[in-house]
Amino acid sequence: MILRRWMAAGLVAVATAGVLNAVPATAQRPYDPTAQSLRALGQRHGLYVGTAVDMAALNDAAEPRYREIVRDEFSTVTAENVMKWESLEPTRGTYDWSAADELVATARRNGQKVRGHVLVWHSQLPKWLTDGVADGSIDNTELRSILRQHITTVASRYRGKIWQWDVVNEAVSDPWDTPSTLHYKGFWAEHLGPGYVADAFRWARAADPTALLFYNDYNIEAFGSGDPANDKTQFVYDMVKGLLARGVPIDGVGSQGHLGTQYGNYDTLQVADALHRFAGLGLSTAFTEVDVRSRLTDGVQAGDSEEINPRLQASAANFHVLLQACLAEPRCLSFTVWGFTDRHSWVPGTFDDPPQGLATIYDENYQPKRAYQVMKADLIYAGPPYVRMRATPKPRR
Ligand code: XIL
Repeated sequence: MILRRWMAAGLVAVATAGVLNAVPATAQRPYDPTAQSLRALGQRHGLYVGTAVDMAALNDAAEPRYREIVRDEFSTVTAENVMKWESLEPTRGTYDWSAADELVATARRNGQKVRGHVLVWHSQLPKWLTDGVADGSIDNTELRSILRQHITTVASRYRGKIWQWDVVNEAVSDPWDTPSTLHYKGFWAEHLGPGYVADAFRWARAADPTALLFYNDYNIEAFGSGDPANDKTQFVYDMVKGLLARGVPIDGVGSQGHLGTQYGNYDTLQVADALHRFAGLGLSTAFTEVDVRSRLTDGVQAGDSEEINPRLQASAANFHVLLQACLAEPRCLSFTVWGFTDRHSWVPGTFDDPPQGLATIYDENYQPKRAYQVMKADLIYAGPPYVRMRATPKPRR
């Protein structure tokens, strides 16, 4: 009886080996999915599992585990900072490609796809650009041509090497901004008007015919009231629908997925519904920057397990919601976490009043947290009919 069960498991292992490319033909033991990496398990669904990469950590000789986990667990990578404008062109007219090139080369060695992040964003712009606009030495006509030049230069350099580009990032306001009616926000809209969004996609497409072109934003995990005046997901939905109607070459919507355990957040069905609705427009989707932070209360900081445990569990539950929803939509192509270890997470440095942290899937000592195990279980136990292989989109012209 026991022997028969083992033999059956062995057959399953052989049958799936071709797909997973991870079980040697000579395997003596039954296939153990829990011993597989996230990237191998994602491959069963055609889903790419990714992380943002901090180049300083990647190059730190004292951090071998960082490099190993990037290599072993993920099938797509995003530059956390080094493809942003301030990093690429710190001095006007002089591009420094070294760190970005290195990320692309590392990904190639590791057999990983690259999400390009980011071509147009109001944040982390070079000082020469924002100063020039502020002091009037760069007028709006010149600003538009500078933007066009930047998109063309960067997208051309990495033509054929980027899987998905975040062409425009965070163009839409939040209900807590002023005015509270949702609008196109920030530096680019203020100076060029909302038309820059369509321009950016057209310029990116002209420079790179093969990348999938994404609009990327946060707080668009689920629909709310349905009123575009206060429902950001609806506003973005209407925006991308309008772009498509005008023939703008947009291929996808990236949902960042920065959540916090102190908020209400969503359930799987709400998130899956949002992904299905974007997919219904003919767009791909992706989770692009997932992390789920928590308040670091005095108790948490003192190591009180009664305060820590519920936060770790709530964090894991939110990773689960987003990943399960992504699995349920065949046009959800990738699931990227914004850093994988609390040792190198942007959260404590950014959300420090009050202090927040514990946002990633490994702790500060590179031990997998409950969130990691939950992601693994989601990938293991998903399958037809509700979870199918990913669709393979063609870049829109
Ligand atoms: C963050 C990085 O993680 C930080 O290291 C940096 O100091 C600021 O930017 N949305 C985005 C990302 O699209 O580019 C941001 O990354 C996090 C929020």
